[in-house]
Amino acid sequence: MTAQLDTAWEPRAQALADELETRGDLTDPAWKAAVAATPRHVLVPKVYEQGTTGEWHSVDVASPSGLDRVYSPTTLITALANHGTHHESISSSTKPDLMVRMLETLDVHDDHTVLEIGTGTGYNAALLTHRLGAERVFSVDLDAEIVDPARERLASIGLRPTLVTRDGAEGLREHAPFDRIIATCSVPTVPRAWCDQLVDGGLLLVDIKAGPTAGNLVLLRRDGDRLEGRFTDRWATFMQMRHHHEQPRSLHPPTDAGARTRTTKTPPDPWQHNREVWFLAHFTGLPNGVRHGMRFDPDTRQPTAGTITAPEGSHAFVMLEPTPDGAWSVTESGPTRLWQAVEGAHQMWRAAGEPGWPRLGVTVEASDQWAWIDDPHGEYQWSLTI
Ligand SMILES: C[S@@+](CC[C@H](N)C(=O)[O-])C[C@H]1O[C@@H](n2cnc3c(N)ncnc32)[C@H](O)[C@@H]1O
Repeated sequence: MTAQLDTAWEPRAQALADELETRGDLTDPAWKAAVAATPRHVLVPKVYEQGTTGEWHSVDVASPSGLDRVYSPTTLITALANHGTHHESISSSTKPDLMVRMLETLDVHDDHTVLEIGTGTGYNAALLTHRLGAERVFSVDLDAEIVDPARERLASIGLRPTLVTRDGAEGLREHAPFDRIIATCSVPTVPRAWCDQLVDGGLLLVDIKAGPTAGNLVLLRRDGDRLEGRFTDRWATFMQMRHHHEQPRSLHPPTDAGARTRTTKTPPDPWQHNREVWFLAHFTGLPNGVRHGMRFDPDTRQPTAGTITAPEGSHAFVMLEPTPDGAWSVTESGPTRLWQAVEGAHQMWRAAGEPGWPRLGVTVEASDQWAWIDDPHGEYQWSLTI
């Protein structure tokens, strides 16, 4: 007799809902019921995973181990763009723990209408529709290849929210105003349309990123013509908002010109261990488009240094192992002293009392948007539109 394959999804969805409650990711029974009732495997039929050497392979979602993965608090990559030399993930099903935390942060009530920017697989739209009903849920994504299958899959489980193929930066004027807007892709600044399409007093939850991993989710409330609010305590990151006809940025290879080595008292990987500083460094001299990374020892494969590279070729690397006197060795080259910008941010952050995310906030007005510490008009403020 062959063993019966265990592919039932309901107990797995229920177990996921229980787990999210136990972990404290959700407290609201309505969201718990939505997680338990949503067949995530229907919405995420194809999943890609990256191996240790960087290559992508697809996962069999229908297998028991595939189902275990789908009904776990894990982000699942669902679409790749082929750039010839490499693939880039362009759509995913965000991990359910983050999704429900965001929905709770957004303080959604049963009579609210909600716009989601970034439909992706439709999983979040399914949670929203389960709770609010199809007529109150709207979601947009950039490509019909993403939106159309999501619409079909949602319909196959009886959910029919309004899904539209649209650049989310435009919002969805024909169905505005919305009580809540949730963006599941990151933006450097808040599109004006989102402010205009929120009811007065409405809330927007969005990931503001000044550069890769440099920022966090911020909860903004509309008050007249302005949006204002603070970053959330827990850090999260989403893929960047894309636009059709975007010109790829020209990149110069990192240069050794003018390389200078010295020591620094600023810890070496702020994007991992000091994320507020990494965000602030984008306002204290880091050029637009910087990327961070790691150097690895070729033998042990252990990380040895944090690296920053700018599009114009400037480069910095900071050794992870401290020197005997508690400093770190840093080497900077090229036209911009990249690490100096991080040091400037670190000093300022310390002078401000080492604020965590909830002391940082954002204000959006028609003519300007800025980040601040403690007070929108206080000592520490920086325009986001640089
Ligand atoms: C993390 S995924 C969204 C996950 C989704 N909410 C879910 O539940 O599966 C981010 C999505 O943002 C979308 N996106 C990127 N740029 C966009 C834009 N300009 N307008 C609308 N959607 C965009 C991507 O195509 C991608 O599907």
